[in-house]
Amino acid sequence: MDRIRIRGGNRLNGTINISGAKNAALPLMIVSLLTPETLTLNNVPRLADVRLLQRILQNHGVDIMIAGKRPGQNGQSGDVKQLSARTIADTTAPYELVSKMRASFWVLGPLLARCGEAKVSLPGGCAIGTRPVDMHLQAMEKLGAEIAIEAGYVVAKARNGLRGNRIVFDKVSVGATHAALMAAVLAQGETVIENAAREPEIGDVAQCLVKMGARIDGIHSPTLRISGVTSLHGAEHTVIADRIETGTYAMCAGMTGGDVMLRGARSDTLGSVIDVMRKAGIAVDETNEGLRVQRNGRALEPVSVATAPFPGFPTDCQAQLMALMTMADGTSTIRETIFENRFMHVQELARLGADIHLNGDTAEVRGVRKLTGAPVMATDLRASVSLVIAALAAEGETMLNRVYHLDRGFETLEDKLAACGADVARLSGN
Ligand code: EPZ
Repeated sequence: MDRIRIRGGNRLNGTINISGAKNAALPLMIVSLLTPETLTLNNVPRLADVRLLQRILQNHGVDIMIAGKRPGQNGQSGDVKQLSARTIADTTAPYELVSKMRASFWVLGPLLARCGEAKVSLPGGCAIGTRPVDMHLQAMEKLGAEIAIEAGYVVAKARNGLRGNRIVFDKVSVGATHAALMAAVLAQGETVIENAAREPEIGDVAQCLVKMGARIDGIHSPTLRISGVTSLHGAEHTVIADRIETGTYAMCAGMTGGDVMLRGARSDTLGSVIDVMRKAGIAVDETNEGLRVQRNGRALEPVSVATAPFPGFPTDCQAQLMALMTMADGTSTIRETIFENRFMHVQELARLGADIHLNGDTAEVRGVRKLTGAPVMATDLRASVSLVIAALAAEGETMLNRVYHLDRGFETLEDKLAACGADVARLSGN
């Protein structure tokens, strides 16, 4: 297994290209199941989760090509993927694949809408919380599907096709909104989804669906109105920039001090992250190229933050903010409201010298003057990268184990940081 070695203390200066968003690329690839024509996706990040989803889609019969690069293309703009689901060869998504990546459960909606049936494994356990799928199933039932749970699988049938309906979600769920949207575009009649998630990735998927011929009103709002169509056609779409990667590198720059241009980053997708960064004493400025993040000499100020659905502070940046606040000039409070077990980074940050106290869903982070490198490991993607942030400022060497978590969601992280002056290297496990 690979490891990443970081020797802390270097300021970051330079430019980081922001990749396409993992959490948009995954549902966009799943959208390809809705049409027999080719969906071309640009700016697809090269990530382990994307490769895994590719295998899952191929199992359903999707033909996937990676378009060749032209001379002069430097590989920084992601892959161009062409996905063609001419026929659906298999409507079963097996446990062996779905258990490795929860988002693959989202094939349920499109398979049902296109084929009138789907058998998809329940995803199983998760390191950050219980993560049920009840809202996904309720949405499919509202659209007229019959649902049964058999031997760990969701077996869904809609023999006469799905029918539009009013779906009111009790709470905001990104996945359940994706599922309802992807199913409703091919349902007969009108569907209204209320209390829909407004995360920018939902908007990106909706805009791609519109290019494919779907009729959707209220994109980016909590109420989506969908008039079902009988078929969708091929289209070309570019995956939006990754707002979580943006927030993460902004916090890297804030942690070490320095001046970093996050090329391609979009402030309109960041919600309250920019406000929080500014309150912490980090300058964030929008330019034609992207977002410029600087902290030159100013102390890091403590902040009080609770995670919330978009446009609130994203749970996917909570661990990174906590790492940043370990060296703030005072005590911060960070409350996690989305997932009940998303504090697995606390004990690893403590190994680097952080002073963090947990009380239920709230972490009290008392800033320390110094962190010290140590061997660490993490149990999920965002927790892993929080350890990278802390290590960049820690004295001495940090060895990050279980790098496969990082590879699920951060494209060439060590190269991007090293190009800005960080002392970071990947050590091959062989
Ligand atoms: C998406 O997960 C993201 N995954 C997560 O990113 C992200 O943390 C999360 O949204 C919240 O923003 C992808 O986009 C691939 P939810 P999702 O449904 O859709 C509860 C990362 O690190 N809930 O919005 O699974 C759920 O338990 C990942 O990139 C139900 O109760 O999250 C949670 O408490 C991790 N029943 C809350 O809703 C349901 O049927 C929000 O979860 C569905 C969800």
